[in-house]
Amino acid sequence: SRGSEFVVVANRLPVDRVTGGDGVRSWRRSPGGLVSAIAPVMRQRQGTWIGWSGAPDEELEPFEEDGMRLHPVRQSAEELELYYEGFSNATLWPLYHDVIAPPVYDRAMWDAYVRVNQRFADAAAEVAAEGAIVWVQDYQLQLVPAMLRRLRPDLRIGFFLHIPFPPTELFMQLPWRRRILEGLLGADLVGFQLPGAAANFVRLCRQLLDARTVKQDIVLDDRTVRARAFPISVDVGELSDLVARPDVRRRAQEIRDDLGGGTVLLGVDRLDYTKGITQRLQAFGELFSDGSLKPGEAVFAQIATPSRERVEQYQLLRDQIEQQVGRINGEYAELGSPVIHYLHTSYDREELAALYLAADVMVVTPLRDGMNLVAKEYVACREDLHGALMLSEFAGAAPELRRGAFLVNPYDIDGLKETMLAAIRAEPADQARRLRAMRKRVLEHDVERWACDFLEALERPTNQAVDLT
Ligand code: UDP
Ligand code: G6P
Repeated sequence: SRGSEFVVVANRLPVDRVTGGDGVRSWRRSPGGLVSAIAPVMRQRQGTWIGWSGAPDEELEPFEEDGMRLHPVRQSAEELELYYEGFSNATLWPLYHDVIAPPVYDRAMWDAYVRVNQRFADAAAEVAAEGAIVWVQDYQLQLVPAMLRRLRPDLRIGFFLHIPFPPTELFMQLPWRRRILEGLLGADLVGFQLPGAAANFVRLCRQLLDARTVKQDIVLDDRTVRARAFPISVDVGELSDLVARPDVRRRAQEIRDDLGGGTVLLGVDRLDYTKGITQRLQAFGELFSDGSLKPGEAVFAQIATPSRERVEQYQLLRDQIEQQVGRINGEYAELGSPVIHYLHTSYDREELAALYLAADVMVVTPLRDGMNLVAKEYVACREDLHGALMLSEFAGAAPELRRGAFLVNPYDIDGLKETMLAAIRAEPADQARRLRAMRKRVLEHDVERWACDFLEALERPTNQAVDLT
């Protein structure tokens, strides 16, 4: 067979296998920002997406879905535990997010990570046409670039890390730190969200591998690897179509009516300890206890989509949030009108767009986040120039949106309270001015531009001279 000219390799497919209570199995959009960003890019480009179905032990043939060719890779129940829940989400995820939770260092988890990465590399080697472009995604697959190059030196290999890359002192904790760097150096281009992350990576290559580096390039014996920043973005066209739909607008009004007329604050996150959900809810609760807000004046809708539910830290966080919501509502709600509406569920694009339109203040307060697409989605949806974005300094989106967002340090509860009040009370002219500045940035740098920038850089030749751009 001829093979694909363009291949994306990600831990997850864009669709997730779900089994309903009645045992009936179906497909649903997979959670998270990676899928939101890569799916529109893929639909444009007719490639093959290699990934896992989200269920253990499934042997599936390649199939088509939503205009994309999908090539499933199997994961056993044990691998799911050691590679996915283990090394990916109990080791790398917390380590790369400033060790907000303590990372687990476990040799059996590492072994499974190597084994599953090899399986993804084998699948890519099988699917890619001669000279094809293969674009490997995220922290779950950092060994794939080198494994794939060994099998297929003819390919052009790119890698993009969707999450932060840690400061060198933290990365040094990792017992397998050199192996990870060597894995990434199999790529021709290693992309990060922010320039600081690319700089951390280059510095580590120098310190740990004794590599020669020139600016943001790592010069190996036979080729040069580029490290660059490409801040990811959202599908502006899709969102602007959604908010133009009369049913979406009607739904937004319905949500506002249901929430009872006060200022609507909104949070939309995977239920994850990196997102700063407890900090924002604490700040909100304290605004009632100190009398800054009266019940009825403002209401908080927090969507927390289920995520990685078998990992202990996620179970602990869920209990903590639910207790906190219960306590704050117990204290300040009135019959029929809670001050916090907490929804542990996942919504489709239509409902999310309606929620964004219904929100006066979008609250995005991660303790650390690679980018945070929710922040950019809110900005893209507010064509009406109404609404305020509260944004953590520690989100990757902060440098791009700093001129319009209400920036905040999420560890500073008093700062959160002050900023929340300022965002609630912002004048319409100030809201419009801020949104205009943020929309300029997001509309000019949407996800299609991001993909083009990355793929153009990937196709530029590297082996000769060092490029100084
Ligand atoms: N999202 C969704 N349904 C939900 C909650 C979130 O489709 O119920 C989407 C959201 O629109 C965004 C993505 O999930 O595109 C979350 O991406 P983000 O970068 O904010 O965070 P991540 O989950 O990748 O850490
Ligand atoms: C983040 C990660 C993605 C991941 C997503 C959802 O966006 O960067 O790689 O797919 O979260 O997490 P999950 O563990 O459910 O795939």
